[in-house]
Amino acid sequence: MKSTIRVFFGIFLAATTVTATQAIAADGENIFKAKNCQSCHYTAGPAREKSIADQLAKKGPELWYAGSKFQSAWLQKWLQDPAVIRPLAYNSLSEMNLGNHARLAADDAVAVSEFLMSLVSSEVEAGVIKPKNHPKGRLIFRKKMPCSGCHQFPDRNKISGGMSGPSLVGAGSRLNPDWIYAYLKNGQVFKPFKDMPTFAGLLRETDLQAVAAYIATFE
Ligand code: HEC
Ligand code: HEC
Repeated sequence: MKSTIRVFFGIFLAATTVTATQAIAADGENIFKAKNCQSCHYTAGPAREKSIADQLAKKGPELWYAGSKFQSAWLQKWLQDPAVIRPLAYNSLSEMNLGNHARLAADDAVAVSEFLMSLVSSEVEAGVIKPKNHPKGRLIFRKKMPCSGCHQFPDRNKISGGMSGPSLVGAGSRLNPDWIYAYLKNGQVFKPFKDMPTFAGLLRETDLQAVAAYIATFE
């Protein structure tokens, strides 16, 4: 009898926690709309159902898979203090990113982050990639493939790499390692019209996994 009560109480507690999280996420969605974030960001996917014109209509990256892409601690912090990620303006290969992204107060950032983390993609398999300073991944990223020609990355005490892609400095705390792999394997799902070449046919799956694991160590 006692254990039945305990189980029942446990379920009750779990249910309350879930509802509390959902309530914060719902709050976050309202703030997202009130602050007009959706004028630049899609929160409904998938990308492949949108035309090129649809894609270019938004001035910021799609967020419908934000919960699969980001780490929540990073997201909460970034929304309050948004540092430049893409050296160049979004979808541009010539204009600089002016670094003037909207910022949120702490409470709002927590709620919006909860909302964005609830948006996930079924294309990202969890628990496949563990961060690892993989020699093969390192070789591919730095030498065998042109990754570092387009992406900044931490190179001992300095930052190296090109500027046409998003900076991967800090990718270890910003990105979900499993999303990095999903993006390399099947980038079309997340960004059908993109400036990054597809490597899925050029590299083996184990190589893509090695690069993903390597990027996930970037501080
Ligand atoms: C005027 C257009 C615009 C508005 C309004 C805007 N954003 Fe953004 N957002 C951008 C751009 C451009 C980037 C890319 C910034 C970078 O790479 O440094 C971005 C990046 C982001 C990212 C990181 C996405 C990624 O893939 O790197 C998040 C999360 C985000 N915005 C959330 C928000 C939220 C929340 C709001 C509302 C408070 C908001 N944005 C309002 C244009 C906008
Ligand atoms: C010609 C330039 C170019 C090359 C080469 C390139 N990328 Fe990219 N990469 C981009 C651009 C641009 C984006 C942003 C999305 C887009 O427009 O495709 C991107 C996005 C990414 C992202 C997602 C980053 C984010 O925050 O959204 C990762 C991870 C990534 N690239 C890894 C790689 C790896 C690994 C390689 C080598 C195997 C590589 N890239 C080669 C240009 C490049």
